[in-house]
Amino acid sequence: MIKIAPSLLSADFANLQRDIEGVPNADWLHVDVMDGMFVPNISIGVPVVKSLRRCTDKFLDVHLMVEKPGRYVEAFARAGADLLSVHLEADMPPAIHAALDQMEALGVKKGVVLRPITAAEAVIPYLKRGIDLVLVMTVEPGFGGQAFMTDQLEKITAIRRYIGAYCPACDLEVDGGVDPETAKLVIAAGANVLVAGSAVFGKADPAAAVDALRS
Ligand code: DX5
Ligand code: ZN
Repeated sequence: MIKIAPSLLSADFANLQRDIEGVPNADWLHVDVMDGMFVPNISIGVPVVKSLRRCTDKFLDVHLMVEKPGRYVEAFARAGADLLSVHLEADMPPAIHAALDQMEALGVKKGVVLRPITAAEAVIPYLKRGIDLVLVMTVEPGFGGQAFMTDQLEKITAIRRYIGAYCPACDLEVDGGVDPETAKLVIAAGANVLVAGSAVFGKADPAAAVDALRS
């Protein structure tokens, strides 16, 4: 079963509730948190997640593009995130494991994210400990509307294999440049959760765009 997670980064920040109501057929909502350090852009933070939690029951998939993400796990969990994902490049491995421990203790689902440069093998120790999601970036993180990086498909295939071997219940999500064409490629490679920003909120009919991705 494929899950579609529209990225609110491409929604109208002055009308988030309206835009969320426009995609009732979405499975998850993807929330991009950027600190202006890990990525060269600043987006939204804890108070916005708290407000989103009040206006939707949908699963909030919060992608933390921040340096030393462990500093913010508790705040985002208390704000109502359902899942937090942390970049493997954002801190040293022991600190990433500690952030994941904290998510477990707070009762939120936990994920790890790979920049395009990071090798598939980097996820193995995390799959062995048990995580809920691996997120493969198919653009350099920081901005919506970029072109899909085809060279990441092999990584998706390899990670699907590692998930099968070490953590079969783990979701495999792809983020960046996903549209109805590239969706076919990432699903064939083994992804089961698709993030899409411009391919949903950049369209005149976002709900139809969600269906188009699913089919
Ligand atoms: C990029 C973000 C993505 C972004 C994707 O750093 O992580 O979630 O919103 O946007 P599209 O789908 O337009 O590439
Ligand atoms: Zn994202």
